[in-house]
Amino acid sequence: MAEQKISDPILDQKFKELDRKNQEALLGGGEKRIEQQHAKGKLTARERIHLLLDEGSFEELGKFVMHRSKDFGLDKEYYLGDGVITGYGTINGRLVYVFSQDFTVFGGSLSETHAEKIVKIMDLAMKNGAPIIGLNDSGGARIQEGVVSLGGYADIFYRNTLASGVIPQLSAIMGPCAGGAVYSPAITDFIFMVENTSFMFVTGPNVVKTVTHENVTAEELGGASTHSTKSGVTHFACANEAECISYIKTILGYMPQNCEEEAPRMPYTFGNEKRPALNAIVPANPNQPYDMREVINGVVDDGSFFEVHKNFAENIVVGFARIAGRSIGIVGNQPASLAGVLDIHSSIKGARFVRFCDCFNIPLLVFEDVPGFLPGTDQEWNAIITNGAKLLYAFSEATVPRVTVITRKAYGGAYDVMNSKHIGADLNYAWPTAEIAVMGAKGAAEIIFKKEISEAADPAGKLNEKVDEYTRKFANPYRAAHRGYIDEVIYPEQTREKLIRAFDMLQNKAAKLPKKKHGNIPL
Ligand code: HXC
Repeated sequence: MAEQKISDPILDQKFKELDRKNQEALLGGGEKRIEQQHAKGKLTARERIHLLLDEGSFEELGKFVMHRSKDFGLDKEYYLGDGVITGYGTINGRLVYVFSQDFTVFGGSLSETHAEKIVKIMDLAMKNGAPIIGLNDSGGARIQEGVVSLGGYADIFYRNTLASGVIPQLSAIMGPCAGGAVYSPAITDFIFMVENTSFMFVTGPNVVKTVTHENVTAEELGGASTHSTKSGVTHFACANEAECISYIKTILGYMPQNCEEEAPRMPYTFGNEKRPALNAIVPANPNQPYDMREVINGVVDDGSFFEVHKNFAENIVVGFARIAGRSIGIVGNQPASLAGVLDIHSSIKGARFVRFCDCFNIPLLVFEDVPGFLPGTDQEWNAIITNGAKLLYAFSEATVPRVTVITRKAYGGAYDVMNSKHIGADLNYAWPTAEIAVMGAKGAAEIIFKKEISEAADPAGKLNEKVDEYTRKFANPYRAAHRGYIDEVIYPEQTREKLIRAFDMLQNKAAKLPKKKHGNIPL
């Protein structure tokens, strides 16, 4: 951090009042503070911004801001910028706003003025319709300041909420994120954490030990791996800061600048769109798993699938991709994990992603292979009813172009939920391997032919016979297609071509929800 010459009369006066150590601090602190940060395996706040933005594009605002506090020795310690670097610049030529907290200044803690700087760029981002990116590295509210710091947090939370669905908001966690500091990232659209150097929790390990007598490390309690697998709080666990920043740049490429715009489209020339490799993915045995990612990667533009929330609720796969250069959001059941069943976590994961895409005009593509909702006391007592309804609600409410491809099972309520025609999907395709029914053939036969089977001379033989009968009647896509619930039964190899045409046809879709203040999604 280069030293700055002080020429302002107020700064001059302040400078004279400080002892030598704090004079240095006010001037930027220099190499020592950079070393401190590097020693922890972290980049400095300024290095992060330079890595994130197009070279030479950063315009810093509020460089000379200092805190106004006097208690607990704060009247003797000042830093220019007050622990956060704020401004705007471009990523791949597109405008973004950014703040980057400096842990070497009071632990990156949020003071009244630190908050004001963040608020200023949030307001600019909203007025000018461009994404805001927060690079968080902070010990939370500046403890010496008391309520003005809490007020500063609330000012940010409020703006996060108002900006939700208007401009994309991304949060990178690149150090500690403790106390109320976690709630701003939580309201934003995507969270990126760095393995081993970042953590997020409302109350840290010491408080946990006092209150619940649990011994837990900061990493176990709120590290990147915990939040990317157990809680789902973070969407990405990145190996290091450079990877984290590269993910942010990549994800922005799939998004528009704001809710009034479309995502940028890559140039594409229509060619031979047949993909015969897709014909071999679904196994002949309906109980055998396969990886839905193979289907997704086989359909979308080469290498364009960018998975979100990869390690959380693996029974559903969500992410962005491109089809003929157009950005789309993908939701797919994952037969390779828990047979692709819907449960609480996968419903929440899917719902949040669907709502993001709908906010920002990103069409939705659903790949469906779902045997139903996961049964059990754990699921029922933890409210699979309310949580499963989130996914149903999110799809029903979405007005962007919506297309479904049923690759195999579409059973029970899950058939309805997974972007069925009945809840507003625009086009519904099924592969010949699709099975669309209230439940699997064995379960169905055991219920509806219970008496007949128990009274048969050979109950096992009778059951098989009834299973075959049910399978013949319902374990196919044609009943649904006769009704028009399925628009077309297509061969897997045709899927990409059909989808290119479908999304082209739907590009001017205009759908509106009934007039309301806002809906009441089952939270
Ligand atoms: C003021 C702080 C600070 C804070 C850290 N520092 N957190 N100063 N306010 N919140 C200072 C330290 O005093 C220290 O100053 C320097 O930053 C580095 O801190 P260390 O503790 O030496 O670093 P480290 O060992 O890496 O530990 C980082 C940490 C720890 C885990 C973040 O500092 C910590 O637990 N801080 C407090 C976290 C917290 O409880 N925050 C308040 C949460 S309540 P010196 O001068 O020694 O270098 C909250 C309410 C918001 O946020 C409510 C909104 C709803």
